[in-house]
Amino acid sequence: MDELQTFVKMLAEKHGNRRESLLPMLQALAERYRHVSGEAMAEVARELDLSTAEVYGTATFYSFLDTTRRGKYIIRICKTIVCDMHGKNQIVKTLEEQLKIKVGETTHNHKFSLLETNCLGWCHKGPAMLINDEVYSDLTPEKICQIIADYRNR
Ligand code: FES
Repeated sequence: MDELQTFVKMLAEKHGNRRESLLPMLQALAERYRHVSGEAMAEVARELDLSTAEVYGTATFYSFLDTTRRGKYIIRICKTIVCDMHGKNQIVKTLEEQLKIKVGETTHNHKFSLLETNCLGWCHKGPAMLINDEVYSDLTPEKICQIIADYRNR
């Protein structure tokens, strides 16, 4: 049994071999591997006795469950109206220039992914973004350069 199979088996034991375990299992897989691969979905389907289509449907319905391999640091820039009015486009442009990728892409070294998200609840300090679970607000292009330089060195 390989590492993935062992992990899925352990999750099924922890959550129970029932349909309700699907979401927590997918979340645990996304957390550990930073995405849920086709192989992992097939393994979960086998373990819970579900069709792979059903597992795939659930994994893709919840957009936070990435089904493609993302970077170590996932940048989610708020695209909602208040941040938009406060210069979000300039921030996205700076991020794209710094990382040399477009929104929706991941750097070749799998260090950064750049995504957009809906309101983060930091509208009063927009533009705002998340890097993994960390919030960054009052963003300016200069601040972005500093933040990215800092993450590059981690
Ligand atoms: Fe961007 Fe609310 S609109 S955080």
